Amino acid sequence: MADDLIFPDGFFWGTATSSHQVEGNNRNNHWWAWEQAGGNIKDGTVSGIACDHYNRFAEDFQMSHEWGHNAHRFSIEWSRIEPEEGRWDEREVEHYRRVLESLHDNDLVPFVTLHHFTNPVWFEDMGGWTSDRAPELLGRYAGYMAEQLGDAVPYWLTINEPPVLPAACYIAGVHPPAKRDFGLAMQAARHILMSLGTMHNAIREKAPHDPKIGPVMNMTYAMPASDSEEDRAAAKLMDQYWNAYWLDGIRDGVIGAPAGQGEEVPGLKGAWDIVGLNYYSRSVVAEGRGVMGLRQVAPAPDAETSTMGWEVYPEGFYQSMMRLKDYDVPVYITENGIGTDDDEQRVSYLVRHLKEVSRAMADGADIRSYFHWCQQDNFEWAEGFRQKFGLFATEEGTLNRIPKESAHFFKDVAENNRVPGRLVEKYAG
Ligand code: GCO
Repeated sequence: MADDLIFPDGFFWGTATSSHQVEGNNRNNHWWAWEQAGGNIKDGTVSGIACDHYNRFAEDFQMSHEWGHNAHRFSIEWSRIEPEEGRWDEREVEHYRRVLESLHDNDLVPFVTLHHFTNPVWFEDMGGWTSDRAPELLGRYAGYMAEQLGDAVPYWLTINEPPVLPAACYIAGVHPPAKRDFGLAMQAARHILMSLGTMHNAIREKAPHDPKIGPVMNMTYAMPASDSEEDRAAAKLMDQYWNAYWLDGIRDGVIGAPAGQGEEVPGLKGAWDIVGLNYYSRSVVAEGRGVMGLRQVAPAPDAETSTMGWEVYPEGFYQSMMRLKDYDVPVYITENGIGTDDDEQRVSYLVRHLKEVSRAMADGADIRSYFHWCQQDNFEWAEGFRQKFGLFATEEGTLNRIPKESAHFFKDVAENNRVPGRLVEKYAG
């Protein structure tokens, strides 16, 4: 029989969400516009009212509390706060104040993301991340939020998944503005890295207390498809683009390859008290033509995958946590989860990934939280509502939250800081 996996007292357990995916009616951002244009979302759905979390947040937080969680990660929708350039909507600030109060009332420690994929339409119109003004505008927004709500926020997360933005918006062209232009991608990558500095410093300056501030990285574990020199170089490039450019960039305060040549950015060096880690899968890469000069190899036919087509690869989670250990910044797991219609697969995924967290901690990684993605099934970007990531189902029509078996599993883990050895044996033995 396997041993129980024991987590320390004070470990944070919860779920993560993002505004556009759960709130509903985010009509003023570039995703909404892109959905309305038609033909861009795989299953033909649009975010619409989503999970109506904008109106149901109090019930959702009460649910998290009742189901044993002690923390929650969510995002503020920039396009609500600043609907036109330089005009702040105080009613929306009040809304998020109520959101924060409700979290505190339910004994959930708030982790607040400021940018999670969506841009206000006015910002996108000026070029979004490719605009030279991006670092200044993001910094101003972050400072404003810290000033308005900082008394209620112990943890600020600046930008969600920096590497996904240039890659999905300007290389793969699967997120708006859906371009394929390496030059624009690198311009965006540079401005995003700079914004991680301006946002961090603005919060530090404006927040009344002394919050912890950091970016949310999604790391991939890049592996070469073969032993050939070319494939190994491709894996190195993938790792550079996806991981090292950002991590080394913040640690050293520089814009490295491929977007720069190591030039310094004032105010960027060490702009992280903490780092968020999102992990889903590994990448197997081979040399290739494409804009990046590499090609991602699909999982083997017999590999276990999610409905997203992502390979289930817990070892890559361990490797990512150990990689972060070298940077000597406390790590918060801000997302981990699986799109699946088979909830037992979710439980099994959870057990196997929590085993890796426990192993990394035993090997010295400083891990402080586990936020599961996601609380309830929601709008999965260009994939639409078809993908089911929730511990709770969102019932069609009523939008009622229906607990899945995985919600029961997670409650037991969160309440006891422990994964029972019996389940470790069953799913990860
Ligand atoms: C991302 C985001 C989430 C996703 C989740 C599942 O990684 O794209 O942070 O918004 O919904 O990762 O794909």
